[in-house]
Amino acid sequence: MEGGSDSPPATETHRALREVDGPAVLALDAATTRDYPGSVATAHQALTAHSAAPTAKRWGFGVFDVDEQLVAMTVIELEGNRADVDFTVVARHRRRQGLATSVNAGSLLALARHGVTLVRTGGSDENRGILATNASLGFHVDEHWITLAAPAR
Ligand SMILES: CC(C)(COP(=O)(O)OP(=O)(O)OC[C@H]1O[C@@H](n2cnc3c(N)ncnc32)[C@H](O)[C@@H]1OP(=O)(O)O)[C@@H](O)C(=O)NCCC(=O)NCCS
Repeated sequence: MEGGSDSPPATETHRALREVDGPAVLALDAATTRDYPGSVATAHQALTAHSAAPTAKRWGFGVFDVDEQLVAMTVIELEGNRADVDFTVVARHRRRQGLATSVNAGSLLALARHGVTLVRTGGSDENRGILATNASLGFHVDEHWITLAAPAR
């Protein structure tokens, strides 16, 4: 039956990002750098070839579309049995289809398997998408950061 009309259609692939994915990671980042709501506390630094490369302390997970294009990714910083989500992003044309939720869920499973017991993440109050994603994955809000600005003269 393989490949026949009764076979399930091709679907996205979820996997850890590798060094070879660097160009795809940089391309998705460059296409979305301006999409992060919020201000200094939640600002996203555009990736460089160095920061796009996974290391033992910086892991990435991605979703690849049926045409093998990278359409979602999340990058995690590890420190012992703790981890911090640096950022999550989804290609504009694939938003609101559950990809942020699924790429984060996959990364949490991998982190748990690795022995990580505490994962921290964040999100601007203006960023309803990431707040809903985090809540649906079971994250609890334990602190709020306030950004103060000098009054306009
Ligand atoms: C935020 C972002 C990652 C969400 O990705 P996504 O794949 O569209 O999210 P999902 O489809 O998994 O949706 C997750 C939840 O967020 C909600 N959501 C997504 N985008 C939303 C929006 N713009 N406004 C309100 N709710 C939104 C969904 O309805 C869903 O809620 P539910 O679990 O209650 O049904 C995506 O919009 C993005 O890449 N934004 C730019 C980068 C960014 O801001 N990253 C987060 C900071 S690190």
